[in-house]
Amino acid sequence: MAKTIVVTGATGTQGSSIVRVMLETGEWKVRAVTRNPESDAAKAIAAKGAEIVVADYDDEKSVKKAFEGAHAIFALTNWWEYLRRGHNQEACGEIEERQGMTLARAAAEIPTLEHYIWSTLPAAKEITGGKHPVPHFDYKAVVDRRIRDELPALAAKTTSLFFGFYPSNFAYFPMLKPMPVPFAPGRYVWLVPSKKEAKVPISGDMTVAPGVFVRQILANPSKTHGKYAAVCAEVCTLDYLLKTWSEVTGKTGVFMEISVESFAALLGVAGQEAALQLKFGEAVPDWYEHVKDQFVSKEELGITVAEIADFRGSLEALKEHLG
Ligand SMILES: NC(=O)c1ccc[n+]([C@@H]2O[C@H](COP(=O)([O-])OP(=O)(O)OC[C@H]3O[C@@H](n4cnc5c(N)ncnc54)[C@H](OP(=O)(O)O)[C@@H]3O)[C@@H](O)[C@H]2O)c1
Repeated sequence: MAKTIVVTGATGTQGSSIVRVMLETGEWKVRAVTRNPESDAAKAIAAKGAEIVVADYDDEKSVKKAFEGAHAIFALTNWWEYLRRGHNQEACGEIEERQGMTLARAAAEIPTLEHYIWSTLPAAKEITGGKHPVPHFDYKAVVDRRIRDELPALAAKTTSLFFGFYPSNFAYFPMLKPMPVPFAPGRYVWLVPSKKEAKVPISGDMTVAPGVFVRQILANPSKTHGKYAAVCAEVCTLDYLLKTWSEVTGKTGVFMEISVESFAALLGVAGQEAALQLKFGEAVPDWYEHVKDQFVSKEELGITVAEIADFRGSLEALKEHLG
């Protein structure tokens, strides 16, 4: 009999890839969690064969109900949604931690559960001795720790899954896109509060990579229980990202380092948060070094870059949305 995976965030970037790839295995039933079953995204995944269930992380009962009978759960929180609603960075983190623990506690009560996959990011503040806090990283990392400390039975069947920078940010995240320069036709400036030599892990094609990682994590429980993995196809310098963007779009991109203060003055709190992340990246070229003893590589999971696409391949697939 097919097992059931419950996918939270199923209408979003990470979750929709997982829904699609897990349905394609033919071995899993997929239950997709949303607050709004009438959205186009929810209807699209229902049309592919997912069961839709309505739940809200702020309503623990609805989450428990959504998780009933699950063999696997993918759990995701969205720090940025609460920033868009007007909360400050720390308040978004507190909401993220609370929601992350709601999901974990609900999962811990599911007797059928074999595998819990928690979408997380590195403990930036801790790794840098307090120098480079990144709220949308740090509160996710607090949930990792609290699962270990407060829910040890769940921790034993948890894989904490880091996500690298999405190539699709170049299409859909306006503040991270090169901008046309009105007085220099054909030239685009990429304003970045970081050195161009800084390195960043790249997730791969976000329509494919999250699903492939979840599929392979679930196929290898003895390697992945209690461990970390990273949705990461390759690690690139910012300079390389822009050069590749220029080659794929045929436009001339010019890298321009800008101070954190100026970036925040232009883009507000969201800009400040993105800048904090980039400063962390400058200080810590290997985001996964701090958990290297518990880390399972993509090679150990049997994942090839050919399947999830490198940065160039991911941009090629997004070409019509890069303008
Ligand atoms: N952009 C990047 O490069 C990057 C890289 C690494 C990690 N991340 C992290 O990725 C996370 C966001 O994931 P994403 O990109 O997949 O987001 P997304 O595309 O914006 O989708 C967000 C999903 O979360 C669900 N959701 C949010 N709040 C909910 C709640 N209270 N109850 C139930 N569902 C809720 C939404 O469901 P409904 O709206 O359908 O209810 C939606 O499916 C963020 O925390 C971010 O820090 C981003």
